[in-house]
Amino acid sequence: MVDLVQSHGGRPALGWWDQIRPHSLGWVTARTSDGLVVGFVNVAWDGADHAFLIDTKTRGAHQHHGIGSAMVRRAAEQAKAAGCEWLHVDFSPELASFYFEACGFGPTDAGLIHLPSLG
Ligand SMILES: CC(C)(COP(=O)(O)OP(=O)(O)OC[C@H]1O[C@@H](n2cnc3c(N)ncnc32)[C@H](O)[C@@H]1OP(=O)(O)O)[C@@H](O)C(=O)NCCC(=O)NCCS
Repeated sequence: MVDLVQSHGGRPALGWWDQIRPHSLGWVTARTSDGLVVGFVNVAWDGADHAFLIDTKTRGAHQHHGIGSAMVRRAAEQAKAAGCEWLHVDFSPELASFYFEACGFGPTDAGLIHLPSLG
């Protein structure tokens, strides 16, 4: 995972996955035939009908080959199979075409508070 995060210019934190995994409904990975991890997406949830897509990433050299959208599709299918009704995601504006067009999300109203900025 550390290697995968570094491959797209991210800053990995050691122990991150061990901390996150207990809160995950499930996750999808993509691998090459020799086992190299080239993609990852995690699905967190509320324990009922809301699932949250987070940490979508594709290894730098493997981007734009349909891996990210295929992983998201698989995550959505499996969240549905697990009984969830809604799959949420948020993202920066430049990723709108990935999530809206390639992955099939629809726009919605949403809100966000940056908690460290609270007085
Ligand atoms: C976003 C990301 C996961 C996409 O993975 P991918 O495997 O390249 O996705 P796909 O090949 O399925 O992309 C399908 C289409 O989505 C759109 N798309 C993909 N990546 C995009 C990006 N970074 N910006 C804008 N549109 C993008 C394109 O239309 C693309 O079609 P094209 O390849 O014909 O141009 C990958 O760019 C990534 O890991 N980025 C760094 C981490 C990140 O920002 N994650 C998102 C957190 S919210």
